[in-house]
Amino acid sequence: MHVKSNQIALTVLFFLAFSSLFPLSFSAANQPRNSKKSTHPTSANRFASSIVFPVQGNVYPLGYYTVSLNIGYPPKLYDLDIDSGSDLTWVQCDAPCRGCTKPRDQLYKPNNNVVQCVDQLCAPVRLSTNHHCSGPDEQCDYEVEYADNGSSLGVLVKDYIPLQFTNGSVLRPRIAFGCGYDQKFSGPTSPPSTAGVLGLGRGKASILSQLHSLGLTSNVVGHCLSGRGGGFLFFGDDLNPSSGNVWTPILPSSSEKHYSLGPAELLFNAKPTTVQGLEVIFDSGSSYTYFNSKAYQAIVDLVINDLKGKKLTRATEDPSLPICWKGAKPFKSLRDVNSYFKPLALSFTKTRNVLLQLPPEAYLIVTKHGNVCLGILNGDEVGLEDLNIIGDISLQDKMVIYDNEKQLIGWVSANCDRLPKS
Ligand SMILES: *[C@@H]1O[C@H](CO)[C@@H](O)[C@H](O)[C@H]1NC(C)=O
Ligand SMILES: *[C@@H]1O[C@H](CO)[C@@H](O)[C@H](O)[C@H]1NC(C)=O
Repeated sequence: MHVKSNQIALTVLFFLAFSSLFPLSFSAANQPRNSKKSTHPTSANRFASSIVFPVQGNVYPLGYYTVSLNIGYPPKLYDLDIDSGSDLTWVQCDAPCRGCTKPRDQLYKPNNNVVQCVDQLCAPVRLSTNHHCSGPDEQCDYEVEYADNGSSLGVLVKDYIPLQFTNGSVLRPRIAFGCGYDQKFSGPTSPPSTAGVLGLGRGKASILSQLHSLGLTSNVVGHCLSGRGGGFLFFGDDLNPSSGNVWTPILPSSSEKHYSLGPAELLFNAKPTTVQGLEVIFDSGSSYTYFNSKAYQAIVDLVINDLKGKKLTRATEDPSLPICWKGAKPFKSLRDVNSYFKPLALSFTKTRNVLLQLPPEAYLIVTKHGNVCLGILNGDEVGLEDLNIIGDISLQDKMVIYDNEKQLIGWVSANCDRLPKS
């Protein structure tokens, strides 16, 4: 099987086998109008408008965040896992399908709308990069493989995707996406229960890149994932918070598919540690945060040493995550345990004063058994080798903006339960 080793998304790791669709919590009517106060003084702002999607989901127990996307005419809703660690968007497809988890009537049905192999959108997603298209009749086959070894194979199709813009207009651009008719999931993890994946990466085939090429939004995507579940996602740049966010460059070495930044050093309780020179990937498709084994071991040692003399003992019987602790009685929420743990932070050394603050709630969960577990994991143990992945748990309660126009990533603490006011 062809493996695109540069595709990083832990989308289906540690998932539980159920999905629940929460009611949409934002109505289109209260979507904000333009807020032009950008922190980029040079912002050209060629595009007046953005698109905002309500987000459902949580880190625990669900393990992922989704948006509902309308596709087709008449449109049908698909719940898609939002994944800044990959760029191709795909939906489970009735072609017929192997490895689909949705009932047949909820699958996407292609209708003579296959993208040709020779189409320029096909090159970035083709099975093999040195494939030569045999002619205009050949369809565009794609395959994506994720870091947890799950994969989707299918054909690229083009269909209407109705979108409500923040300026009030509804447009129906024709957008290419994957129609996935052969999904594989590896190991003991359950298959994802979403209808597909919304790839937010930087590649040419992403929905964002296509909207940008059509002149509909600027090449900017952002998300605000709430620690209480839900949140919102946006395409375009008119929701940039006017102040408070810090920016750091996307590494030029970064794959087209995802967003790397760094180098960063780890602070424990605001003090420097031995963990330095980390390149990290911001990956909303990963539930938890992963570090290479050296950094991971250092963090575990720091946390465990600091717990000495505190009333927490290891809860080895809790299977939720590799390292858990219990208290005298079961914990109900993170509020019960915050005082036992110190804040972590990543300091991005190339830019002054750029910190990604990781308070206890950005690296711990409280399980259904009432224990507290470390949501930072050893990437080596899942085959990530030296990659460091900042997952949902550490991106919560922040507005995170991936600005492909300026090649910057920015973030600021935010209340993600509400859409930002203009
Ligand atoms: C994925 O496959 C690679 C290579 O076969 C292996 O090293 C790695 O452990 C696998 N990862 C998972 C999460 O199964
Ligand atoms: C709203 O924004 C869209 C996308 O940028 C644009 O195509 C449309 O013309 C705008 N509508 C109005 C009324 O300005």
